[in-house]
Amino acid sequence: MAKKKERIISGIDIGSTKVSAFIGKINGSNSLEFVGAASTECHGLRKGVVINLEAVVCAVKKVMAEAETQAGVAMESAFVGLSGGHVRGFNNRGLIPTKGRNHEISVDDVKRVVEAARAISLPADKEIIHILPQCFSVDGDEGITDPLGMTGSRLEVNVHIITASITAAQNIVTAINRCGLMVTNLVLQQLAAAEAVLTQDEKELGCLIVDIGGGTTDLAVFYRGTVWHSAILPVGGDNFTRDLAVGLCTPIQEAERIKREFGSAIATSIGKGEMIEVSGVGGRPSRPVARELIYEIVQPRAEEILEFVREEVERTGLSKQLTAGVVLTGGGSLLSGMVELSEQVLGMTARRGCILDQNNVSTLSSDWLQPMYATAVGLVRHGFNSTVQPPRSEGNGHKVVRFVPHAVAEAREWLRSMLF
Ligand SMILES: Nc1ncnc2c1ncn2[C@@H]1O[C@H](COP(=O)(O)OP(=O)(O)OP(=O)(O)O)[C@@H](O)[C@H]1O
Ligand SMILES: [Mg+2]
Repeated sequence: MAKKKERIISGIDIGSTKVSAFIGKINGSNSLEFVGAASTECHGLRKGVVINLEAVVCAVKKVMAEAETQAGVAMESAFVGLSGGHVRGFNNRGLIPTKGRNHEISVDDVKRVVEAARAISLPADKEIIHILPQCFSVDGDEGITDPLGMTGSRLEVNVHIITASITAAQNIVTAINRCGLMVTNLVLQQLAAAEAVLTQDEKELGCLIVDIGGGTTDLAVFYRGTVWHSAILPVGGDNFTRDLAVGLCTPIQEAERIKREFGSAIATSIGKGEMIEVSGVGGRPSRPVARELIYEIVQPRAEEILEFVREEVERTGLSKQLTAGVVLTGGGSLLSGMVELSEQVLGMTARRGCILDQNNVSTLSSDWLQPMYATAVGLVRHGFNSTVQPPRSEGNGHKVVRFVPHAVAEAREWLRSMLF
């Protein structure tokens, strides 16, 4: 019997500090398996915007080659992450009269109402990256997740829309194209990361994801399975490093080492009274610095970032709904005490978001399950979710054939693929 063709899904995360490429394979049983992963340092992006195209192209080519060799396949296209101060997220609503016979809501109605919600006046230099349905309303009945086949003459939808600068997005696409790759889709980074580190329960109950990268802190609020708020703050882990470099008068590289080894966002008794040897800048001799001073530099910056996050969440009016708390991911979440400080500042339970088992990552070594790879893993996961139709099953996993016209089933998949 002929072997089913294996399909390949690739994700490329171009961050402010590194570029990562992950390759997944959809095997014969329609499940995803990770077969390649590579990452390299890169500073061709600042706060989500390309500042050195050549550096990005070089880094992407390098990780592509490494991941391809591991996977034994060639990448042709990739899901690519997008972030930056030019990205905006906001909610909107669309309304249409239904057209069908007996006012039964059809695929066409659902597509039209989502299109209606897309009708916003956008500046000429902006484009829509995502339009994510939150819930529908039929003749005024709110909170409907799947209106297909229901009866009603007025269909409304609430959506979360993400827009981005056309040129900033195009520069990312250009970098990828120069590597001989097509971009399947640009995906907002924190939505991709959520795929890798949040459980479906957390998304349903209400949860905040905060991806603390090098240049930006990207957040999204999930509730009832969909996105209600997203924001990108222009501060990240590199601010801690720069604060330390200035405060301790030491080179950036040394400041980075000190942050990782001794930095803490909360006061601890560990190393109290300890003196740390710190190199001087420009070849000046090293000198001892009290460990408490490192805490005094790092802590206010950590608190400031979390205060910005708190203000963003309060703006949504959904703080009380976030029963599953906050999940911190990205490299910045590795700063010691960051999870504890988040609980204090945000007033909700917090955990660190490493890559969850639900992603079928058993083939990856544990190094790749660190929070800084959440976006790259999530891009592949998102690609998988939006291209693969899972076998429909009910109850204890028996396959069932539902009596739905093919087009309706397809539309449900389309709807599902639009949700994160
Ligand atoms: N153990 C650690 N302790 C503290 N900070 C850390 C640790 N490991 C990494 N970081 C910090 O994490 C940041 C990089 O995180 P990440 O790789 O998620 O960023 P990025 O994806 O390149 O950037 P961005 O998402 O902002 O574009 C850097 O500021 C780095 O110093
Ligand atoms: Mg990142």
